[in-house]
Amino acid sequence: MIKKLALFLFFLVFSGPLFAQELNGKTNAEKKVFIDNLLSKMTIQEKVGQLRLVSVGGDLTLNKVLDQIEAGEIGGIFNTIVEPDLSQMQERALKSPNKIPLYFGFDIIHGHRTVFPINLGIASTWDRSAIAKAAEVSADEATSDGLNVTWAPMVDITRDPRWGRVSEGFGEDPYLTSEAGRIFVEKMQKQSLADKKSLVTTVKHFALYGAVEGGREYNSTDMSERKMFQEYLVPYKAAIDAGSRAVMVSLVSVNGIPATANHWLLTEVLRNQWHFDGVVVSDHGAIRELINHGVASDPKDAVRVAIKAGIDISMNDEYFLQFLPELVKEGAITEDEINQACRHVLELKYDMGLFSDPYRNLDPKLNIETMFANDRLHREEARDVARRSIVLLKNNNEILPLTKNKKIAVIGPLADSQRDILGSWSGAGRANLAVTPLEGIKRAVNNSKSVSYAFGANLSDDANLYRFLNLYGETTKFDHRSAKQMITEAIGIAKKSDVVVAFVGEAEGMAHESSSRTNLSLPATQKQLLNALKKTGKPLVIVLMNGRPLTLSEEYAQADAMLETWFLGTEGGNAIADVLFGDYNPSGKLPMSFPDNVGQIPVYYSHLNTGRPRGTENMGKYTTSYFDSPNDPLFPFGFGLSYTNFAMDFSLSSSEMNKDGEIIVKVNVENIGNKEGMQTVQLYLQDVTASVSRPVKELIGFENINLKPHEKGEVEFVIKYDMLKFWNDKMEYVAEPGKFNVFIGSDSRTQDKKTFSLLDK
Ligand code: BGC
Repeated sequence: MIKKLALFLFFLVFSGPLFAQELNGKTNAEKKVFIDNLLSKMTIQEKVGQLRLVSVGGDLTLNKVLDQIEAGEIGGIFNTIVEPDLSQMQERALKSPNKIPLYFGFDIIHGHRTVFPINLGIASTWDRSAIAKAAEVSADEATSDGLNVTWAPMVDITRDPRWGRVSEGFGEDPYLTSEAGRIFVEKMQKQSLADKKSLVTTVKHFALYGAVEGGREYNSTDMSERKMFQEYLVPYKAAIDAGSRAVMVSLVSVNGIPATANHWLLTEVLRNQWHFDGVVVSDHGAIRELINHGVASDPKDAVRVAIKAGIDISMNDEYFLQFLPELVKEGAITEDEINQACRHVLELKYDMGLFSDPYRNLDPKLNIETMFANDRLHREEARDVARRSIVLLKNNNEILPLTKNKKIAVIGPLADSQRDILGSWSGAGRANLAVTPLEGIKRAVNNSKSVSYAFGANLSDDANLYRFLNLYGETTKFDHRSAKQMITEAIGIAKKSDVVVAFVGEAEGMAHESSSRTNLSLPATQKQLLNALKKTGKPLVIVLMNGRPLTLSEEYAQADAMLETWFLGTEGGNAIADVLFGDYNPSGKLPMSFPDNVGQIPVYYSHLNTGRPRGTENMGKYTTSYFDSPNDPLFPFGFGLSYTNFAMDFSLSSSEMNKDGEIIVKVNVENIGNKEGMQTVQLYLQDVTASVSRPVKELIGFENINLKPHEKGEVEFVIKYDMLKFWNDKMEYVAEPGKFNVFIGSDSRTQDKKTFSLLDK
């Protein structure tokens, strides 16, 4: 026996991937036997129970939930993060007829206890290691608290900043979003779900939620299949290819059929074409909503339609238990269909190791008080990712970085708001643990006397907005003094200071689910404040906190320097101070274009050319233009300044490429300024002539390089045949011979290009 064990261990250590495959093969066979056996013992009610995902709340009290669990009527729990409750639930699950353990899900979107920047901010790092750090720490903290499934990453491509959920995604670009999604999946799930620190990811919202018409929440989407496969579906596919074991279905309709009822999307594309074998989860309430969408006549019909389309799990289930057994009895749904969905759930639980270790990571000693102890936070990691997320938009006369001996006036409704800096979807975050900008600046200068503060203005004077923001408990501060009083106070301290740093933007609740806007400018109260501050003649640094691109041309003109900081999370204030004082040289780049005005939307860099492009010098008549607005955004995708400057030039290894060949792009980068800094070298491609119109350019690579003053370095990219593929006129995924332009630059406006030809051999 000992000999056998030694041999086993020897193989385990030395025989590498082949052995791993064999081991997996064996596990798969065992898994099948285990699950077949389990399914054969389960009643239809218990099978349906596995498809139910439920949270405590409303009529469903904890006691009711516990009873249903023990009856085998619930497969997973979400939105409970309190440890003793989780343990108690698992205990009851193990008393159910077949002792099937529960999984515990939560929206771990940008951190858990330690809150990282909102995802649009994380994407602004353009730094794979920073993205990885945010994902790894989130998984680490969530699993330490006994959770094992997250409803993330959200990889919806977002090109319409009117939609509030752009804050949750990684921006407008398929490649950048795919990279971020892939990294989230790899770092959260890890190599194996059986790893105790593995957190199952749920890529969402499948599909096209980010393309809602007019940016209006929950609205419909309609899109050609070419655009879907070429752009919008790419990041979901990347996350699935990276191994994401769950997919959440979008709330919207896709080409006339709600995603939750969309057999083409959930079965033909997801299962048959992409071979996805994990679980498909509906979004909250989506099954009931099929009635409003007009594709189901009543709740029972909605259940039938959802199951037929390919839904496995009903989130916040209302109707599965009530109607599924009946539908099977009537023959409207076959037991095989239920078995199939149930098998997906049981396989997931098996792979998570829940059957052998149901109390994995559950620590009954942990309670709500001990959970949020400061030493359980990952402040250093959060601060590092946060400062990398900051984008420098303007810096006239090198007004930044500030020296620490200056007298600083910190002003604005967002300067000292612990709640707002966490951003939306930070349910397990604790505002009282967050560092505000005022606090961060005071700590950095180590002399609170040189820093003065005024609230300056309410976020807005729109009572409806406050009602909306505070619908579920007051979170947004409203100062009852008159606007004049607040501004007078702010001007008073501004005049006594050397520089004004104004924190303006949105409340976190303005950039969330169900928070679409049509007006993307700063509210009037904040504009008045900035106008008054500008009039003092003091240098004005505008620090933006917001969850979406805003229209900022007036503020851009007013500011001496301008920083986009999104909502940076628990360590936000320290990160902002690091950048303001030059302890970190800003390196972030925008993951979404900032429109010049709302009328331009959607404005994104990778648009198609038209037959009548607008002239570069002079727009001309009969060109694709607005006569009252530029076509270009205020800040383009990929844009972000640094406290230093970089020069770049590049070469291609060849001007021709064979099918099995490659082109090496060598980029020389030099730091031509006086400060150490990081540049993100961006690689774009244009397929000049093809069977369909191709975008003016598309991001296909990016790399970061850190250089000391006057240091030179090199970045290399390899362009391979597969990277030239696209969906052609016959909807085949191919590369077509012909001319390609390669662009290198520090943002998507770059015109620095070289050309090669793909040969027909
Ligand atoms: C959102 C999902 C989220 C779910 C659970 C829904 O309203 O659309 O993104 O995961 O709620 O909180």
